[in-house]
Amino acid sequence: MEIFKYKNYEEVSKASAAIVIREMMMNPELILGLATGTSPIGLYKNLIEAYNNHLISFKNVKTFNLDEYVGIDKFHPQSYYSFMYENLFKHVDINEKNINIPSNDMNNIEQLAAEYNTKMFGNQRDLQILGIGQNGHIGFNEPGSQLSNQTFVVKLDEQTRIDNSRFFSSLEEVPTHAITMGIRNIMYSKKILLIASGKSKADAVYKMVYGPITETLPASILQLHPNITIIIDEDAASMLHMESNHLKF
Ligand code: F6R
Repeated sequence: MEIFKYKNYEEVSKASAAIVIREMMMNPELILGLATGTSPIGLYKNLIEAYNNHLISFKNVKTFNLDEYVGIDKFHPQSYYSFMYENLFKHVDINEKNINIPSNDMNNIEQLAAEYNTKMFGNQRDLQILGIGQNGHIGFNEPGSQLSNQTFVVKLDEQTRIDNSRFFSSLEEVPTHAITMGIRNIMYSKKILLIASGKSKADAVYKMVYGPITETLPASILQLHPNITIIIDEDAASMLHMESNHLKF
């Protein structure tokens, strides 16, 4: 594990984007795992800027998103499909056929989850971007989910629904279920880049780094990944007592 601490969200966004840009420059056919939520929005803005400055192209990049809500339409403004188009895809030259987002069609969701899973094992991610929930979830692997899970349909934790209700007009509107990569899919990526900012993440970040590896804090499994970089701001790092801005285990 390698941890880099930056002053604020803006710096976290720049530093994490620099890593993705470097990977894309080195490998134009990068297989990239993507996250949604507030954490990567700044990173995606920096990627769009790098694309506009002709530093990178998405033409031959393949993407796999971590998760999608179940029970809302794909085109709902708060679906992760819409999120990705709004915050990244519509601004760059990505080829639609290279975009992979878990399908949330309730008619055959189990089969769709299995298909997504199989596709991911044939497309090992070179780099997986992650955020972390206040409860220590990664993707939508909520506390208590088995660490051996592959892509599955999950009942969302109440804390997650409350956290994400900021994007909906009421808590009732937040979906109760989602389809998500399992921990096993996440661990099956060559490199992982996790970003976190804000005081509300400090406890989960501390437990992810120093806590026991346990289903009650799914992100703790990342201690076992051989190549993970964590980019956090001062607030998210506040419980780590870092003496310098860099920690390596
Ligand atoms: C999003 C995802 C989640 C988020 C996490 C943090 O695709 O899988 O694990 O990364 O909930 O969300 P934000 O960044 O909104 O605090």
